[in-house]
Amino acid sequence: MRTDTAAPVRLEDYRPTDYLIDTVSLDVRLHPTATRILAELAIRPNPAGRAGAALELDGDELELVSVALDGGALAPGAYEASPSGLTLHAPPERAFRLSIETRVNPTANTKLMGLYRSSGVYCTQCEAEGFRRITYFLDRPDVMAVYTTRIEAEEAEAPVLLGNGDPVERGALPNGRHYAVWRDPHPKPCYLFALVGGKLGRVGGEIVTRSGRKVELGVYVEPGKESRAGYALDALVRSMRWDEQAFGCEYDLSVFNIVAVSDFNMGAMENKGLNIFNDKYVLASPETATDADYAAIEAIIAHEYFHNWTGNRITCRDWFQLCLKEGLTVFRDQEFSSDERSRPVKRIADVRALRAQQFAEDSGPLAHPVRPSVYREINNFYTATVYEKGAEVIRMLKTLIGPEAFKAGMDLYFHRCDGTAATIEDFLACFAEASGRDLSHFSLWYRQAGTPSVAVRTAYDAEDRTLRLDFAQSTPPTPGQTEKEPVVIPIRLGLVSAQGRGAPLKTADGRTLEDGLFVLDKTADSLTLIEVPADPVPSLLRGFSAPVRLEQELGPAELLTLFRRDEDPFNRWQAAQTYAMRLMVRAVEALRAQQPPEFDQGFAVALGELLAATDDHAFAAQVMALPSEADVARELGREIDPDAVLHARKALRSFVGQTAGDRLAQTYSRLETTGPYSPDAASAGRRSLRNAALDLLTAGDPGRGIPLAQAQFASADNMTDQIGALAILAQHPGPAREEALAAFGEHFAADPLVLDKWFGLQAAIPEAATLDRVRGLMRHPAFSLSNPNRTRALVGTFAMANLSQFHRADGAGYAFLADMVLQLDGSNPQLAARLLGAFRTWRSLEQGRRAQAETQLRRVAAKEGLSPDVSDIVTRSLA
Ligand code: PHE
Ligand code: ZN
Repeated sequence: MRTDTAAPVRLEDYRPTDYLIDTVSLDVRLHPTATRILAELAIRPNPAGRAGAALELDGDELELVSVALDGGALAPGAYEASPSGLTLHAPPERAFRLSIETRVNPTANTKLMGLYRSSGVYCTQCEAEGFRRITYFLDRPDVMAVYTTRIEAEEAEAPVLLGNGDPVERGALPNGRHYAVWRDPHPKPCYLFALVGGKLGRVGGEIVTRSGRKVELGVYVEPGKESRAGYALDALVRSMRWDEQAFGCEYDLSVFNIVAVSDFNMGAMENKGLNIFNDKYVLASPETATDADYAAIEAIIAHEYFHNWTGNRITCRDWFQLCLKEGLTVFRDQEFSSDERSRPVKRIADVRALRAQQFAEDSGPLAHPVRPSVYREINNFYTATVYEKGAEVIRMLKTLIGPEAFKAGMDLYFHRCDGTAATIEDFLACFAEASGRDLSHFSLWYRQAGTPSVAVRTAYDAEDRTLRLDFAQSTPPTPGQTEKEPVVIPIRLGLVSAQGRGAPLKTADGRTLEDGLFVLDKTADSLTLIEVPADPVPSLLRGFSAPVRLEQELGPAELLTLFRRDEDPFNRWQAAQTYAMRLMVRAVEALRAQQPPEFDQGFAVALGELLAATDDHAFAAQVMALPSEADVARELGREIDPDAVLHARKALRSFVGQTAGDRLAQTYSRLETTGPYSPDAASAGRRSLRNAALDLLTAGDPGRGIPLAQAQFASADNMTDQIGALAILAQHPGPAREEALAAFGEHFAADPLVLDKWFGLQAAIPEAATLDRVRGLMRHPAFSLSNPNRTRALVGTFAMANLSQFHRADGAGYAFLADMVLQLDGSNPQLAARLLGAFRTWRSLEQGRRAQAETQLRRVAAKEGLSPDVSDIVTRSLA
């Protein structure tokens, strides 16, 4: 067992391994409780390592059955084995073969790392350090080998046997057993190893790559769910085509398989040629999946597929380089979704998520750079910072060097680094070379944590017709980094006048600002624009051109000008959000001073105008989704009272709903759809606006909205409209809500993925009774703490998406979560550590809650024998 005293791993301590493993031949005999793994490793001294060093293979909860060197037994003193490692004291100073037999119990593996069973299906999860739970190995990504895997199982128990690479052989064996052999010719790190064995249904397809290679595609799901696998297959085909066109990346094996399993710690995993997915991100039908589910499936299918080049062909030298594959692959999947759907709407959704997750992380005790330089538990670094901020850094790079140089840099990267385990430095060198730019200052984005703020002051001189913009940046301190340097911030901008379109941007030295791009790379800088006809409203950070907080002093009239006239859709949306945010922040202040909140009509009126005029439904729906309670809390930043936030937001929603009531009702009836459900972006946009209109209408006038929601709930032919109505009903206490919830629970009793939505909806109800409701739902027959999806839906939603109830003033929400974390830590520490992350903003609360949160964090910290996962999070949270 590992203990909670795991030593920190540091980037600066990196050195190559003393040995290399060139080929791995595995013979896996699947058995529910005693699976045997025979591993034959071709090992040789690494010329870059220390000659004559001991060979120290990693292990984790392993049982060694036997070990042999070049076919001969090892003398007892020649090696040392424990569940957590196998050491050869003096291996030969030449190439040799090591044969290791281990035994593992997949049924008892509740951590869902290594080889485990999900609903009886054998599957594996090896990233980051799971392969060492299968066999002893140099479990680090810079050890790349060619794998051959033979899988043997009882045919009745596991008729389907899948591995990485191409299938080479299969056959029957005596006693009802059978086997399959898979070979992956591409050298890979062991974290990309996978195998699957079980009873699975298959939906198949085929694609011919641009060079004419035929690839067989398979999506494997629980038998009987095949009809829900079609969309995933379709998304896969579109992803493969897109990657050829957009990035020149072609698939490189004869088979590509995806397997959906119901017990999975994360979203999905990019194992070479054999992606394994959380079934939530594969299974979809109109009756069970929402438009958001379809979009997420499309994005994650693409993400995992895109890893084939950015992650697998080119992998990471060490886990500090995680953003090398994750940031880049998120960027790629975001681009894909933008091309498949609406680019502005995708950008808005991504920025919402970035702010909700990454900005929150970056402003609290768990803040870390995109490329961390130290970790105690790597599982805890699959974060919004590594993924989402990592993608923003790539996007800024593209903005700064331009699309052509970016393309040339990517081509160079694919060409130069293919087949290697690379670093951020290797990656950036390709773009420096392709663009002829010095990227050393830019690279600070990878090392410096924290969200920079950019403050802007503008001054218009009517006589000179000049506009002066003064920019100043600063980054708040983060753990371990008190002093911050200025970063390179690309600021896209334009001018919007009250009359109409923006003027061209000419600078004082007579240049035109190309693409409206100003680069702020100092602590303070200014920009003077000339020939500016009339006092305009500066539209800054268009498209959210950098992951920063913008502090720009705009009055209500200026915000409305941007909202109505900006040619940049992101900033139109942003102006509306900023307006609404101001109203809510002022309402919070009023409520805390025992005053009733007051709102002006401007926002509601502009919203009504938009509803009357727009045909971009998805965009309008984004405008109508007011900043969340968590957004408001982040804006307040300190001394947060979640109850005041809840009531301020409710009050504004109700005010807007009343003020724009007739317009909302018209929108609702105008957008009624007929004909069969289709998940395409336009249809989804229509549904999202219609549901958003009903939501606000009901917030303003429940007597008018609830009957509409009830009718929609009863008649909906698709999950989007059904759950949309149920979510509205859930906000309003009373029999309508309870009846609808009961009906839904009964109807979908046998469909765990749909019940997760039902668990989540109830866990998110902002009422004092919710904690008891959550406790009650934990006794529901479909609920199980051993299933990560169920746990996240109920416990995770309560802790992460119910601001006022998790942060109850009496501390009961915190105590409940601490109980859950301590209970789960014994079985699934990764999941426990994730849930504990809900405390990440605890220091910004008002002092009563802060004290309650600290009490519970200390209670968790005091528990003996904590996993390294939970120990790491709780220690950092309290530091
Ligand atoms: N590498 C996976 C992805 O982002 C995430 C993952 C990490 C899955 C660790 C499982 C375990 O695509
Ligand atoms: Zn990924």
